[in-house]
Amino acid sequence: MKVLEVKDLTVQSGDGSKVVSSVSFSVEPGERLGLIGESGSGKSMTALAVMGLLPAELKASGGLLLGTGKDAPRQIIGAAEKDLNEIRGRVASIVFQEPLTALDPLMKIGRQLSEPLRRWKGLKGEGLQKAIISALAEVSINKPERIAASYPYEISGGERQRAAIAMALACEPSLLIADEPTTALDVTVQAEILALLDTVVSKRGMSLLFISHDLAVVSRITDHVLVMKDGSVVESGSLTDILRSPQHPYTRDLVASAKELDNALAIAKNSGGI
Ligand SMILES: Nc1ncnc2c1ncn2[C@@H]1O[C@H](COP(=O)(O)OP(=O)(O)O)[C@@H](O)[C@H]1O
Ligand SMILES: [Mg+2]
Repeated sequence: MKVLEVKDLTVQSGDGSKVVSSVSFSVEPGERLGLIGESGSGKSMTALAVMGLLPAELKASGGLLLGTGKDAPRQIIGAAEKDLNEIRGRVASIVFQEPLTALDPLMKIGRQLSEPLRRWKGLKGEGLQKAIISALAEVSINKPERIAASYPYEISGGERQRAAIAMALACEPSLLIADEPTTALDVTVQAEILALLDTVVSKRGMSLLFISHDLAVVSRITDHVLVMKDGSVVESGSLTDILRSPQHPYTRDLVASAKELDNALAIAKNSGGI
């Protein structure tokens, strides 16, 4: 059983150049897959293709089956917008690097959260208010009432990302896609958001597709990884195997530089530098 099955996914721009070439992978229920690669390697375009959210000038081909259990797998490529709207949020949700991508700057957080809750759970009145507060409390926002009553610009970057995660979780998706969700945040907030994702994904038994250019971050939250370079997958396997014996030269470089950074940090720490 799979939640997501990607087969020979290719994404091409109008001039025929490929930004994603024949990418295949799958995600099982409860699995956490990391997608790693340098900037421009096609990670985000892969994620957007899965959600049926590619920019109009890019065309996807191949197979993209999304769904499981009561939401039988459906082909995303070529699906009508009406069908995609039923799938987005409920079967799979996405969290972006910049939380303002998902949040409306002119609407209070509570009101934004009320839309998916009303639409998918049929909640209204007091039940809806309670659901909004508990959705914000689940992502460990102190004083969820304050956040619900705030506009996105009135809260911190970390709180905005937590609110965007609450939005993504509102319809209880089977798969959460997180595309560099911590890259724009400072290091302490980054660690908190990773811990939060770890907790909610486990608690809800969701699948996770976690995208990052940073192997150290990916290794903290996933158990399998897929390494992308220039639009293609160059290596995949369990995190342990990849860290222990990377096969592709690019993966070896990634692992070596992550270890170097680790050592440098350890040395700095021991010498009292940090
Ligand atoms: N709208 C677009 N039209 C054409 N090419 C694009 C468009 N958006 C992104 N690209 C190209 O697609 C490639 C992959 O981009 P992306 O998936 O965003 O990389 P990553 O997320 O791994 O940093 C890049 O070379 C980028 O320049
Ligand atoms: Mg990206």
